Amino acid sequence: MNLMRRKSISSMMELKEKGNTLKKELGAFDLTMLGIGCVVGTGIFVMTGVAAAQHAGPALILSFIIAGLVCAFCALCYAELASMVPISGSAYTYSYATFGEIIAWILGWDLILEYGFAASMVASGWSGYFQGLMSGFGIHIPHALSSALDTGKGTYIDLPAIIIALLLTFVVSRGAKESTRLNTIMVVIKIAVIVLFLVVGVFYVKPSNWTPFMPFGFGGVMTGAATAFIAYIGFDVVATAAEEVRNPQRDLPRGIIASLIVCALLYVLVTAVLTGIVPYQLLDVKNPVAFAIQFIHQNWIAGFISLGAIIGITTVLFVLLYGQTRLLYAMGRDGLLPKKLSKLNPKTKAPTVSTWATGILVAFFAGVLPLDRLSDLVSIGTLFAFISVAIGIIILRKARPDLQRSFRVPWVPVIPLLAIIFCGYLLFSLPLVTWEAFLIWMVIGLVVYFSFGIRNSRLAKPEQDE
Ligand code: ALA
Repeated sequence: MNLMRRKSISSMMELKEKGNTLKKELGAFDLTMLGIGCVVGTGIFVMTGVAAAQHAGPALILSFIIAGLVCAFCALCYAELASMVPISGSAYTYSYATFGEIIAWILGWDLILEYGFAASMVASGWSGYFQGLMSGFGIHIPHALSSALDTGKGTYIDLPAIIIALLLTFVVSRGAKESTRLNTIMVVIKIAVIVLFLVVGVFYVKPSNWTPFMPFGFGGVMTGAATAFIAYIGFDVVATAAEEVRNPQRDLPRGIIASLIVCALLYVLVTAVLTGIVPYQLLDVKNPVAFAIQFIHQNWIAGFISLGAIIGITTVLFVLLYGQTRLLYAMGRDGLLPKKLSKLNPKTKAPTVSTWATGILVAFFAGVLPLDRLSDLVSIGTLFAFISVAIGIIILRKARPDLQRSFRVPWVPVIPLLAIIFCGYLLFSLPLVTWEAFLIWMVIGLVVYFSFGIRNSRLAKPEQDE
């Protein structure tokens, strides 16, 4: 029975009332900006190149449309869950209140994998752009230190990825908060460089580059969709801001859907121009957007685009690191992980131990694993979380019709089922080695829970509750 113990929503709400209630000041526009800030990064600036060259060809455009639709279904499910438990947090918090401890633990453990490897993946993408920009100035870092371990190519470690991960960990450990204003500036820079790319690039598009459109067949389009899917990750963060939204019922779904639409539009246009300028076979590079502009000999503009991409990718990395430390903090506070993780530094008010634990691991994996391995691990973690959330919506409609929902997914169970089917398809198209890594991670998680969490959970010691 312990496994199914739940946190009561009302007690969580009380705790929230007692503590510093977050100000309810966000509207649909702010949420959209927040969404774009967390979403547009490595996926579009870095991974489109390899995906077009090796998997989908120009039909990567279709991959982005398909992945965008799947994400829209998942996003609606997130919005309903967030509106039911309007407390800041992630799928971990929601499921603790609705499904019970073991499910919350499994999801939390899965999210650690998702956020952690996503941060490593984004750091690795950052490194690609950074090196591209530096080489424009004639600065090259030693080949052995320029990329993840690949003895065939003579590379051992991705030093820039490690450095940026540790640098941002330092920033997060200083208690820096996500600042809405700074985020808005970064979003404007990101969108500006993308528009610059589109406006300059469109004049150099040769439609002949779009044929053959689907050189790898429909299978290739779906493999491309798995990559494209990564490019959309981050919109779920919008749902986690539920507590700070003025009118969650109206604005939360609007914010989520609007940020998805803006991103989908940008992604489809960028992919179209990218594959229109450069024959897709040549796009197998780490900085495809800047590369395409260099391809048409606009080196200055390529420099600006690299700089904008680096800034944009940095914000995504910041949000992911921040999200991961807050998740570990919440799990430590609930007693499912060691309490040390929830200790706040008295001066900075940041959870120092969880921040550095996160940063060091993220830096390590960013340094040694190549981008495609990292992105597969992120995919599996995310797809698993999305499927769980969609199943949760269907079950809770039956099991807990009494819970108040300020936002309801339309056409239940059709939309959650579509989300489950599409995510399931993408899940099964991932390589075996990724599945193995995921299963090992999950088994470790269960061992940790049954040897630690189940006994130390705060719900096991209610007398210690404040
Ligand atoms: N969607 C995020 C990115 O593309 C993870 O970087």
